[in-house]
Order: sequence, then structure tokens, then C-alpha cells
Amino acid sequence: MFARRIVVVGTGYVGLTTGACLASLGHRVVCSDVDAAKVEQLTRGEVRILEPGLAELVQEGIAAGRLEFVVGSAGAVDEAEVVFLCVPTPMGSGGAADLAAVESVTREVRERLPHGCVLVTKSTVPVGTSARVAELVGRPDVPVVSNPEFLREGSAVHDFLNPDRIVVGSDSQDAAERVAALYARLGAPTVLTDAASAEMVKYAANCFLATKLSYVNAIAELCERLGANISDVTEGMGYDRRIGQSFLQPGPGWGGSCLPKDTAALMQVAEAADFDFGLLRATIDSNARQREQMVAKVADACGVGVESSLRGVRLGLLGLTFKAGTDDLRDSPAMAVARLLAAEGAELVAYDPGLRGDEPEPTEIMTLVDDPYLAAKGSAGLVLLTEWQEFRALDWSRLAGLLEGPVVIDTRNHLDPDVLRRAGLSWRGVGRRP
Ligand code: UGA
Repeated sequence: MFARRIVVVGTGYVGLTTGACLASLGHRVVCSDVDAAKVEQLTRGEVRILEPGLAELVQEGIAAGRLEFVVGSAGAVDEAEVVFLCVPTPMGSGGAADLAAVESVTREVRERLPHGCVLVTKSTVPVGTSARVAELVGRPDVPVVSNPEFLREGSAVHDFLNPDRIVVGSDSQDAAERVAALYARLGAPTVLTDAASAEMVKYAANCFLATKLSYVNAIAELCERLGANISDVTEGMGYDRRIGQSFLQPGPGWGGSCLPKDTAALMQVAEAADFDFGLLRATIDSNARQREQMVAKVADACGVGVESSLRGVRLGLLGLTFKAGTDDLRDSPAMAVARLLAAEGAELVAYDPGLRGDEPEPTEIMTLVDDPYLAAKGSAGLVLLTEWQEFRALDWSRLAGLLEGPVVIDTRNHLDPDVLRRAGLSWRGVGRRP
């Protein structure tokens, strides 16, 4: 049985993916946003988010008459059976999640929600937010449900349609079951719980992933000092099914719009609950150190001692986005490393296949070029910061000819050291001897 009308408030990557995917499952969905120009674009089937398969799903949904876009949330919810709140919850003061958007939308729609409509929080919100939203709504006939998303940028559509699990939490069993039923066709394991536990699942999962990466990065550092090889170590660890092979890739630190925000927010929540979450603090601190570690590695590889600076040293950067397959620079570890290098006085020339070149942030501290060979030309070394697939297929002999210094610092262990060696380049990775 399909819901007659689902309303999704917010058309960011979570909201738009949720709306388009629910429509593809046969539901009738209205997506609302405050940005009229964006609504107009989406109505024409134009998707500006770099997310594989999303534009196609949006266009199919519109063509099938199951997906539409409207400006503003108040009018949209009049006939809604389920309303998903997918508005941003950015990092606010002191690291706590800023719930202004969730609260203002709730205030806007509360009077207009039809009797029996379910209000769902999908944005990542601190434990207790669903209860707070229920209080704000102040209507016993409108149950509130927490249904966190577990979408990765760059594979959001795939993740939505092939979920590891669906988590739905509410004090109303009936409301939770109605929301879970929307996903029934996906056949995923479903955890029905209370709202606070559902909210906690999201934080606990993201913070666990961040901790896993900080741990791997620390083991990589130790491998480097002891002459072990992190790639073999993580492969050996990963065969243990309790650990698993994924999320074990060392790098310049973890970033993006979710893990840094959620680790900071859980830290805040813990402090407010008078719990000293030292383990999570160490996870966050070691991520900051990891970025500094990369700068030291670059300086060392370029023959600049730790004491002297990189002043005037020209470096080519490959990749700036927080991971491959996205154009997102938010909390990008690559940008953080670039900022540290620039602060040391390095002259940076960067190439990223996901960027158009008109982004203001990078151009303040570096020259952005649209060709990787230009980034290499005359540089004292090339620093790979984001693991774009196409970097593996570069003409490394040509790059060797263009570089002033024949060294590649591969902060993601993404390249084949043998290919580089054959091209006459020296390769420096993470957690592996050169
Ligand atoms: C993350 C979670 O993976 C999703 O499950 C979650 O739904 C999402 O946050 C969210 O809260 O909305 P995302 O931010 O898209 O997804 O990025 P990830 O793919 O998790 O990568 C996060 C960071 O870890 C990136 O900087 C990435 O380069 C780094 N990473 C990831 C590594 O350094 N090594 C790895 O092995 C994996």
C-alpha cells in the first residue's frame, strides 16, 4: 500500500535523494524548499548536486507524476500523511548541532499538519530532538518519528535503495510501523525502537566510523616507524569478519559534511550529560594531528627539514574535495592540508576533476588549474590528496618530465608505486616505507 502523499522538506542531497527514491518506490512525493530558483530548476528536472543516478530518478519521478517540487513547506503539508524533515543541521556554537532550521520548519507546519500525519526527523539531530519537536508541535494526534539516513555522498541513491538497515524510532508504535512500511519493498533489516535510540544509532555509527579511521591512521603511522606495510596489515585485519575490509584506508584524515560535525556534536552531547568521552576526543584530536603529519611528510619528501619552512616551494596538488566522486569541499582534509602548506609559505597549484575552478575557497590560497600536467609543471613535488580514479591513469612519464623535483606524496596510498618508479619518480605513501 503506497502513501498518498509524502512531503519532504529540504532538497539538499539527503532530501532530494529521499524524495526521488521514495517516488521510485511508487510513493507520491512532494519536495519543498524555500529556494524558489532551486524549485524551478528541479521542476524542470535539473539537478545541480553531483550524485550518480539522482537526476535520472528525479526526471523519471516527474514524468511518472509521482514527484513534484513546491516553494515553502506550509502549503505543501495540507494533505500529507508523512512529512520528512531533511533540513540542514550544521555545526553550531561549541560544536553542538544547530537546530534552527528544524525548529523553524516545525513551527511553520505544526498548525497545518492533517490529523494523524506523521512528522519524521531525517536530518542528523542530537538525542532528544524528536522529543523536542513533539513538544513544539504540541499535538497528540501528530506522532513524531526519528528515521536517520545513512547515505554516503557520491553513492546516496545506491545507499538509499540498498540499505544495510532501516532504523525507525518513536514512542508511537503505529507511527513507527507506518514509516517502516514506506521502505518495505527494499527488504532491509529494520530496527524499530524509541526515538532517542534511533537518534543515537546515527551518532554512534558515524563516530564509530571516525574512530575506526583515526585508529587506522595511527596504526599507519606506527607501521611507517617500524617498517611494516599498512596495506598488508589492514588486509590481514579486515579478513576478521568482526572488523571487515571497508573503512580501513589510511589517508590525510577524515572529513566531509558529516563525520567532523557529528563527532563534535556527540562530544557536546556527552559533555552535557556529564560524561568524559575521552575515546572520542582522542579520535578528533588525532584527526587534526593527521593533517599536520601530512605537511611534515611533504616537507621531508621535498628535502626541506622540519625546522625550515616551505616558503617559496612550489607544490602541485592532485584533488581537493573531501573524497573522490563529489564536488564537496566542506571540511575537506585535502583543503585542510593545503591551508597548512600555504601557511608554511608553499606556492600551491591544484587540480581537481570535480571542481569547475570558480570556487572562491581554494583560489584564496592557491592557483586552481584545469589540467593535472599544469599542476606538475615546475613543482618541487606532487601531493595527491583525494583518491580520484583518473589519477591512476595519468601519464606519469610526462609528469616526471614536467616536475622540478621527482617526488610524489600519495596521502591516500592510491597510486601504484611500481608505475611511478618506472617513470623515474619517487613515491611516498602513508604507513609504508618509500
Ligand atoms: C558519512 C557516512 O559514511 C554515511 O554512512 C553517513 O550517512 C553520512 O556520513 C552522513 O552522516 O550523512 P560521507 O560523509 O558521505 O558519509 O563520507 P564517507 O564516505 O563516510 O567518508 C568520510 C571521510 O572519511 C572522507 O574524508 C573519506 O575520504 C574518509 N575515509 C573513508 C578514509 O579516509 N578512509 C576510508 O577507508 C574511508
